Amino acid sequence: MGNDYSIYGDKLSELEKVVQDMEEHIAKLRKRITEETGMDPVEHCLARIKTDESMREKCRRLGLPETEESALKKIFDAIGIRIVCAFLDDVYTIRDYIASVAGYTIIREKDYIKNAKPNGYRSYHMILQSESGIYCEIQLRTISMDTWAALEHHMKYKKNITGNTELIISELKRCADELASTDISMQAIKNMIMST
Ligand code: GTP
Ligand code: MG
Repeated sequence: MGNDYSIYGDKLSELEKVVQDMEEHIAKLRKRITEETGMDPVEHCLARIKTDESMREKCRRLGLPETEESALKKIFDAIGIRIVCAFLDDVYTIRDYIASVAGYTIIREKDYIKNAKPNGYRSYHMILQSESGIYCEIQLRTISMDTWAALEHHMKYKKNITGNTELIISELKRCADELASTDISMQAIKNMIMST
């Protein structure tokens, strides 16, 4: 059974405008930093508007009615932007830049890099709100964090894991911590290269 109407009502073009605006800001920053330092701070950047079906699924999961109000005012990740950086310091440089972009207010911010989730998940999360009232979720992370999150995501959706659950969880956590320690080493190497 399909739905004839978008859960975003007539706001899809507003969502697209915010995505485009944020992408332009990020592109401008990358260009500036690349010119200044010779290094692009962003490895890759993904921006998406949650599909109608997955937004409806999220509403059902949260026990919210499948309405424009839920999709745009109760749920904050209709727009999701993931910025993957090579180095830890780039994550914080980009965070500071995003915080300074005119026309957006930071609604919520969580540093799961300094305070990793118990399973080992690391990323810097920001929820912004545009002047037009549109919310946007931004995830900033390093390549290592992104690799881990992608693998962990696969495993989370593999439902029929029977035995060894404890061991799987603790091994995943160990990998996350090892990657985090590698990120710190890579940053130290970068600092040494930059200071020579
Ligand atoms: P909470 O207060 O815990 O809800 O924090 P939050 O709202 O900042 O993050 P939330 O848990 O809502 O997650 C937001 C997004 O971050 C998710 O849609 C995922 O893309 C990503 N994420 C959060 N936790 C994990 C995790 O444990 N593993 C993976 N792979 N991704 C995660
Ligand atoms: Mg949440």
